[in-house]
This record gives sequence, structure tokens and C-alpha cells, in this order.
Amino acid sequence: MGEVPSGSAMVFGAGGAIGRALTARLLAGGRFAEVHAGQRRADMASLPGAIPFAFELTDEASIVAAAGQVSAPLRLVIVATGLLHDQQRGIVPEKSLRALDAGVMAQVLAANTIGPALIAKHCLPRFPRGERAVFAVLSARVGSIGDNRLGGWHSYRASKAALNMLVRNFAIELARSHPRAIVAALHPGTVDSRLSAPFQRGVTPRKLFSPDQAAGHLLAVLEGLTPADSGGQFAWDGARIAD
Ligand SMILES: NC(=O)c1ccc[n+]([C@@H]2O[C@H](COP(=O)([O-])OP(=O)(O)OC[C@H]3O[C@@H](n4cnc5c(N)ncnc54)[C@H](OP(=O)(O)O)[C@@H]3O)[C@@H](O)[C@H]2O)c1
Repeated sequence: MGEVPSGSAMVFGAGGAIGRALTARLLAGGRFAEVHAGQRRADMASLPGAIPFAFELTDEASIVAAAGQVSAPLRLVIVATGLLHDQQRGIVPEKSLRALDAGVMAQVLAANTIGPALIAKHCLPRFPRGERAVFAVLSARVGSIGDNRLGGWHSYRASKAALNMLVRNFAIELARSHPRAIVAALHPGTVDSRLSAPFQRGVTPRKLFSPDQAAGHLLAVLEGLTPADSGGQFAWDGARIAD
């Protein structure tokens, strides 16, 4: 007999390549009574069966409203948003100190660090106490300080390193009230998306995952995590990444 769907899952960034694939897999998996799919623009098509919501990472009120629309117990939140480059806003990953620009740094940190933190602020208190619930953010291996051999990409690396620190902080804080909850940062590998498109040269086809493959990997990793793993960073194959 199949599992009865229960609780809610939320995906912030369901219009992105990985976020959309995660949402599709959560819908197909049938484990959640509600799958809430958040995109920046309200007019963007949502996947059939998902409960759509609009949010903007730099608008805390939109995040409050999104968290408030969920009625069934919140058991999974995935933050699949991210910013690496944006031609229109002149955002390019910096290769040198010379390229640093305060305005660009602020925008990258706002999207990759502060926005996900605000989502945690408004979603984590809604986790049921005494039950397993998972909060996962898509980070990146380049945010690992211990793993950094190449340098460069100053703002993106720093924003993800700071995100990883917040994941550890939130895990410590949440464990006091929600001992079965898990907070984790995930590295999806290199995935074919708008974000990675300019940087895919040199990646062997076997190591360039489709968004659906990546979503499968990430959900399998989340499935295997226990509260003892809370606060950590995990790669797509489940391996722990150095802080
Ligand atoms: N692809 C890779 O190889 C790779 C590798 C390592 C880590 N990651 C991480 O994986 C995550 C997902 O990346 P992806 O490859 O799926 O990229 P993507 O297709 O570009 O998706 C990123 C999503 O973030 C949304 N977003 C950006 N700024 C936002 C804001 N201020 N408010 C609301 N939404 C915002 C974008 O919305 P719009 O469409 O409206 O702009 C987009 O839907 C990111 O955190 C990225 O750093 C990806």
C-alpha cells in the first residue's frame, strides 16, 4: 500500500532550472499533500498540481506572505534561487581585486545570502516540533573555504561561504526546539542551466548534469540525511564538503 501524502513542501526558485526539476519530482513523488512552487514573477507558468506563489528575495514581505499561505505542516523547504551573473545589471564573477564593485557585491550577497536567510527566518519557526522536517539551500562547492584552491569569483564565493555559515548557525539554533529537524546546504554539481551556461566549457559531458538528474541526486541526498548531519554541506553524491 502506498504512503498517504501528507504535509507541505515549498520550493523557492521553482522557475529556475534546478528548482523546476525539483518541483516536478516532488509532484511526481506524491509524498506531499501540497507542493508550493515560488517564482519571482506571478505571471510565470507553474507546473500542474503545484500551488504557485510569487516572491522576491529582496522583499521580506513577499517571503512572509509565502510562508503564511501554507496550511499543511511544513516538512520540506528547498531554496533553489541563486545569482552568479546578470548581464543587464552588469554582474559578472570577478577574476581579480580590481573588478570588485560594492554595488555588485551587495546584490550578489542580497540574493545568495540574505534572501535565503530571510526564508529561513519565516519558514523554520513553522516546522512541526518533534517531527522530521528539512530545510535545504542550494549552495556551491566554491563556497567552501577549505576547498578553495583557485580563488576568483569573489562575491559569489563569499556569498555562498556566508550562506554555509548561516546554515550551521540555524541548525544549532533550531536543534534546541526541533531536535528532528535538519538544515543543510547542497552542492548540485555542474548542472545545465542559465546560471552555468557561460562556464560549461571544459566540463566533460558526463559531469554536466541535466536539471532532472540533479534534482534526483539532491532529493536522494536529502532523504538520507539525519539530524546528526544538520548544519553541514553535502555534494550531489551525498559526500560531505569541507567547511
Ligand atoms: N547550475 C550549476 O551548475 C550550479 C552549480 C553550483 C551551484 N548551483 C546553485 O544552484 C542554485 C540554482 O541554480 P540554477 O542552475 O537552477 O540557476 P537558474 O536556472 O538561473 O535559477 C536561479 C533562480 O533564482 C531565481 N532568483 C534569482 N534572484 C532572485 C530574486 N532576487 N528573487 C527571486 N528569485 C530569484 C531566478 O529567478 P529569475 O528566473 O526570475 O531570474 C531563477 O529562477 C543556485 O543557488 C546556484 O548557485 C548551481
